[in-house]
Amino acid sequence: MKSIFLKIVFTCTVIAMPCSSFAQEAEDDTGRQIFSKKCSGCHGKDGNTAAFGISRKLVEISASEMGERLSLFSTDKNLQNAGGVSGVMSKQVAMLNKQEFESVLLYIKQNFATDKQ
Ligand code: HEC
Repeated sequence: MKSIFLKIVFTCTVIAMPCSSFAQEAEDDTGRQIFSKKCSGCHGKDGNTAAFGISRKLVEISASEMGERLSLFSTDKNLQNAGGVSGVMSKQVAMLNKQEFESVLLYIKQNFATDKQ
């Protein structure tokens, strides 16, 4: 089970990398707007809130791990079908298109990650 999890994380990291470097070139405000509308309610506008008291604060997560976690929420079918809190993030991510996903990921990496990029 653990090795399947690692494979998923690895695959997502490899796939997500070219996309996020592409998004880095786009200088716009999209990521900030998405975060403020769709994420800050649970994670805090400064990334300093533990969502539902169970997530880590975004300011405590490294940039690469943010990418891994967010990609996992968008690809893991078990999480998507899970009810309750486990399914919460998958539903958030499912509402974003590819470009919005990359923009908001870049935003949280640049503004909150322990190793801001
Ligand atoms: C309705 C509340 C809610 C909203 C809105 C929400 N999240 Fe979350 N988020 C959660 C919860 C709950 C968890 C913990 C899920 C888990 O560990 O299974 C989480 C986990 C995360 C994590 C991983 C944190 C960790 O502990 O590893 C990241 C990164 C994240 N969210 C980013 C986002 C982004 C980006 C958005 C906006 C697109 C967003 N969240 C919107 C509730 C929310």
